[in-house]
Formats: sequence, C-alpha cells, structure tokens
Amino acid sequence: MTPPTHTTVAVVGGGPAGLLLARLLHQAGIDCVVLEHRDRTYVEQRQRAGILEQGTVDALRACGAAERLDREGLVHDGVELRWNRRSHRIDFPSLTGGRRVWVYAQTEVVKDLVALQLADGPPLLFKAEVTAVTGADTEHPVVQYTHQGRSRTLTCDYVVGCDGFHGVVRKAVPEGQLQTFERVYPYSWFGVLADIPPSCDELIYAHSPRGFALHSMRSPTVSRLYLQVPNGTDPATWSDKQIWDELEERFAVDGDWKLRRGPITQRAVLPMRSFVTEPMRWGRILLAGDAAHIVPPTGAKGLNLAVSDVVVLARAFTERASTGSTAGLNAYSDTCLQRVWRAEHFSWFMTTTTHTAPEHSGFETRLQLAYLDRIAASSHAAAELAENYAGLPIG
Ligand code: FAD
Ligand code: DHB
Repeated sequence: MTPPTHTTVAVVGGGPAGLLLARLLHQAGIDCVVLEHRDRTYVEQRQRAGILEQGTVDALRACGAAERLDREGLVHDGVELRWNRRSHRIDFPSLTGGRRVWVYAQTEVVKDLVALQLADGPPLLFKAEVTAVTGADTEHPVVQYTHQGRSRTLTCDYVVGCDGFHGVVRKAVPEGQLQTFERVYPYSWFGVLADIPPSCDELIYAHSPRGFALHSMRSPTVSRLYLQVPNGTDPATWSDKQIWDELEERFAVDGDWKLRRGPITQRAVLPMRSFVTEPMRWGRILLAGDAAHIVPPTGAKGLNLAVSDVVVLARAFTERASTGSTAGLNAYSDTCLQRVWRAEHFSWFMTTTTHTAPEHSGFETRLQLAYLDRIAASSHAAAELAENYAGLPIG
C-alpha cells in the first residue's frame, strides 16, 4: 500500500496516546494517519506501566478496546502502604465513591489497540521515523518521515505529537514559544519481572530506611517489583539473590507475610523525572502524553495522563468536524494542564514521601513518617491519596 500523502490529523508516535487518539478519531469519522518509528514487536513488548485508572478503563470501554481488559485485567480496590514494619491499607471504593483501578499492563493496552487499528482502523505505519515538521504556523503543516528506505511527506490540517519525551514534534516548535518545567530526581527505579505468583493481592508501596520498594504484578503468575537505586546503577551488577534479599529487607513487616522468590526474566533501571511543557499547543501542533509531560512513576500516572489528554483532544477534533468550531482545540492545553499539574503534584508527593534521598537528614525522614502515620490515622488524609490514585474524572 502506498502511504497517503494528505490527512486531517497526522499522529506522530504509536504508543498508547497515538493509538488511542487514532481509534477515537476513526470512530468520529475523522481522517488520520499514525507514524511510528519502531516495529510492531518492539512497541508491543516495551515493558512500562501497569495500572489503569477508572477513567482510563471507561475510555477504553467506550471505544470498544476493553474486551480483553475486562476478561483478563485484575480489579484492585486498594493498595497497601508499609513503613516502620507496619502496614496500612487504603480502600479506594469507600474513600472515593466507588472508584477503583485495574492491573493491566501497558504492553497489553498497546497490543489491543494495534490489533483494532490494523483490523479496521486508519493507516498505522511501523518503522516510519518522523524527521521534521514544518509549516505548523500555516493551515497545512507538513510531516517528513522515512519509511522503507524512502523519504516521504504527509500534509495535514494538524500534527499531534504523541512521540514521547524524546520525540521530534515538540522540538519543531520555535525556540522560546514553549515554557518547560523540570525536576530530575536523585534516584532511579530498578524494575524486574519475575515468573512467580505475586506475594500480595494488592500493590505494596514500601518506605524503608534502605529506600523505596514497590510490589506490583502483571498476572496471577507474574510479579513486577521495583527497588529505589542510585542514579547510574547498572542492573547487570546485581545478582538475583541480591535483588530478592534487598526486596525482602525493604518490605519487612511485623506478622507472618513472606516474599515469594522466583526466576527474574527482565530487568531495567529507569531514571525519574518530572517535566511539563506549557502550552501543549503551538500553531497546528498539539502535544499529548509523554511528549508534553513526564511524571515519576510512583503514582502510576504516566499512561493515565496520556489517555486523558487524547480523550480531551479527540472531543475537540470531533467538535471541529461537526460544528466547525475550534473552541475545544483552543482550550485543549488549558483543560489538560489542570489535570497534568494535579498529577505532577501527586506523583511528586508519592515519590518524595516514600523515597530516601542522599541529602536527607533525620528531619526529612521524620516528616515522611509523620505523614504516613497521618494517612493511617485520618480518613481525610487517606481519601486525598485514594482520590488521586484511583484518578479524577476526565474533564
Ligand atoms: P510513549 O509510550 O513513549 O510512545 C511514544 C511513541 O512515539 C513510541 O512508540 C516511539 O517509538 C514513538 N516515536 C518517538 N519518536 C518518534 C519519531 N521521530 N517518529 C515516529 N515515532 C516516534 N508510567 C507508569 O505509570 N508506571 C510505570 O511503571 C512506568 N514505567 C515506565 C518506564 C519507562 C522506561 C518509560 C519511558 C515510561 C514509563 N512510564 C510508566 C510512563 C508511561 O509508560 C508513559 O507515560 C506512557 O508510555 C506514555 O504514552 P505515550 O504514548 O505518550 O508515549
Ligand atoms: C506499576 C508501576 C508504577 O509506577 C506504579 O506506581 C504501580 C505499578 C507497574 O509497573 O505495575
């Protein structure tokens, strides 16, 4: 098939943001093309987020992309916090008026959206690397890309940069037009996948004097675990035994809970960053998902923010297609940034309350523990955490 040379919306990036946007536009009868740099296997197997908020699940259901999620996703009604060898459960439905989260990996969301798009969706080109975007201040921007060894162009009405933090679309905006806010944290996460049933029914976020640890899962037989480590840690220098020993120390709790050990099948170290671009639009370029903002992973917000951006954006494109009004597109950035900054604050809060930092004195540690104690003592403090974790409704 020869790729189209004109479309209404050129979507750069076939991660969760780009794929879901394409699905929503297609359902609204709006023409689009998705250009994805990597091949299908790479995109479908990239190990990343694991928690879907209620609003994300609702959005996937509404566009017919949740059939497998509803069969295989694990519904979680709470999380456990651990500190000082004690534990406290946060119950989402009772604290949020019935909201909950789903454990369903980003890899599976991407597989489901790719399958739908290839079966009956707009063109999705893998191994199509966008190299430049020009004319974003005109009515017809041009996207240049390479595909199957050839340079090609795609003319469109709008370009949506769903190409992640390192993408090219944000960089196509002239200097000085975007303001950025950034924080790089002095620690990273060492994430492992292990072929062993999870040692818990719900996720465990653990504060410990040795650093943060998180117990998550991918399925009833696969565990996903994270350890806070110093930046620059080489995952190959840790033996499996060292990893399990360290996890065991950090999850230590009074009572008879036990961490199950099993073969580690994947390992990677992820740096942690907060980053926001303002505004999320310039001319006919719109930015969505990680291309516009990054959160540290502690609040499980990255994927969910990408979904809420494109839900808002698809509504705005639908309004333009049906009424000719660009009010929704004009309001896109302001609408999304409110939610983005709320999630930035929550992710920063979850991170700084549970991680030890090199510069911490006993003072900061006592503050962290005092706040964790407060969450355990007050349903108001617990509700604040639960509402943010289970996710606010998409505005
Ligand atoms: P991405 O998923 O990054 O997709 C962007 C796509 O654009 C990619 O497929 C890329 O190949 C493509 N692309 C880039 N440049 C070009 C180009 N020039 N031309 C064409 N295509 C291009 N969030 C959590 O909540 N929990 C986690 O545990 C977690 N772990 C993470 C681990 C890592 C290593 C990373 C990077 C992120 C993690 N996140 C996590 C965040 C979460 O995965 C992201 O927020 C989510 O993937 C955002 O989706 P997106 O579609 O905006 O961007
Ligand atoms: C997972 C990742 C997170 O960042 C988080 O807060 C919870 C779970 C996960 O990969 O399962």
